[in-house]
Amino acid sequence: MKGASFVAATAALASTALATPSKSISERASGSGNKTPQVTVKGNAFWAGNERFYIRGVDYQPGGSGGKADPIADPTGCKRDIEKFTELGINTIRVYMVDNRADHDECMNALAAAGIYLALDVNTPEYSINRADPEISYNNVYLQSLFATVDAFQKYDNTLLFFSGNEVINDDQTTGAAPFVKAVTRDLKQYIGSRGYRKIPVGYSAADVDSNRFEIAQYMNCGTDDERSDFFAFNDYSWCDPSTFQESGWKDKVAKYASYSIPIFLSEYGCNTNTRKFEEVKSLYSSDMSSVYSGGLVYEYSQEDSNYGLVDLSNPRSPKELADFAALKTAYAAAKNPSGDGGYSQSGSPAQCPPKSNTWNVTDNALPAIPTPAMAYMQKGAGQGPGLDGPGSQSAGTGSSGDAEPGSGAVTSTASPDSSQGAAAGLIIPGVDSGVVGMAAIVALSAVFGGVFTLL
Ligand SMILES: *[C@@H]1O[C@H](CO)[C@@H](O)[C@H](O)[C@H]1NC(C)=O
Repeated sequence: MKGASFVAATAALASTALATPSKSISERASGSGNKTPQVTVKGNAFWAGNERFYIRGVDYQPGGSGGKADPIADPTGCKRDIEKFTELGINTIRVYMVDNRADHDECMNALAAAGIYLALDVNTPEYSINRADPEISYNNVYLQSLFATVDAFQKYDNTLLFFSGNEVINDDQTTGAAPFVKAVTRDLKQYIGSRGYRKIPVGYSAADVDSNRFEIAQYMNCGTDDERSDFFAFNDYSWCDPSTFQESGWKDKVAKYASYSIPIFLSEYGCNTNTRKFEEVKSLYSSDMSSVYSGGLVYEYSQEDSNYGLVDLSNPRSPKELADFAALKTAYAAAKNPSGDGGYSQSGSPAQCPPKSNTWNVTDNALPAIPTPAMAYMQKGAGQGPGLDGPGSQSAGTGSSGDAEPGSGAVTSTASPDSSQGAAAGLIIPGVDSGVVGMAAIVALSAVFGGVFTLL
């Protein structure tokens, strides 16, 4: 969504609750029928075993961006809403922020039991890339928080994928942030590999900006394998009922991405200009789209100020279905997935990096090197995360010291997946441990620097 970013305030203090290690869900689920088998990427599609997997979901962040709450750490709310998810017939929710210190077992297990996966944004308001000043915000303190979130969610089979960023680039003037977002994707992939976790897909969720959407897509899927995304997602509000596959522009978006080699899906959709009938659902889960797209997520479950809600949670004890809920339920029920493999492409080629243009201000396709202190997390684990109330990373820690060697993000270690070591390595006081010439001064000047974090 456009226009709903906010400047993150520097938060007060550390939270206290410590997550405890627990058995993986696969351990507990073994023996009984697992309704959420691990999903993998092959060609330009997702797969649950040998079955093509289409994301059929809703965006889920009760309270919106201002709420700063982790819905997966709220078992009561989670279980209340799972009843509605089941009624809607969905298989995925997208959550925009979680508390990497909280316990998520109860909600994640309940979701798994209902056959529902989680697509998770690993950024939070205080730990995110600042599109206005990406270089400073790409630092080891930031990455520590992201990696701690990966630690907290990698153990669940129903963790579907991680978003490395959401709408960080939101116009033609902010494309300079793209190398940093791509570096974050690379670092997350490297962390997952180095820690010996399963290959949970990592990719970016792009804003609904026509002018540079294709360039972003190309950019995220060009270069060395370790730098390229596992999928690409974008938010799309172009189908406003009544419309058609052709009129909405979706037909063109199938043609334009026909040779794109990794899965694509819509990380937000559902224009609300007119009464929503969700007629686009029929097209999305049909052979109109399925050779290129793998479904999408309707924005959004809860009614917030922007008026996209399916359910009114103003009385949390008695959620009220709004008119859009019934419309979406009907649309999902009527839209069966295409048969077989949906016409996917098994072996496309990565994209070419887009040239600099009026809408794409990236000249050097080398990515910033990972901040040196963050390399330690690859070996030792990230340790305890800062949670949603941590002091923030916007101008903290040590940044990148230059361009990375091509391919340098390759998995170099097979450290044992024990994340109990290395705690506190990431919490460096701003201005104290800066290894970059000039950085210390900048950091000191910007101790209360606001970071742009976008939810909508
Ligand atoms: C492109 O980026 C450079 C810095 O990398 C900046 O100086 C320049 O103003 C940008 N140009 C546009 C048109 O935004």
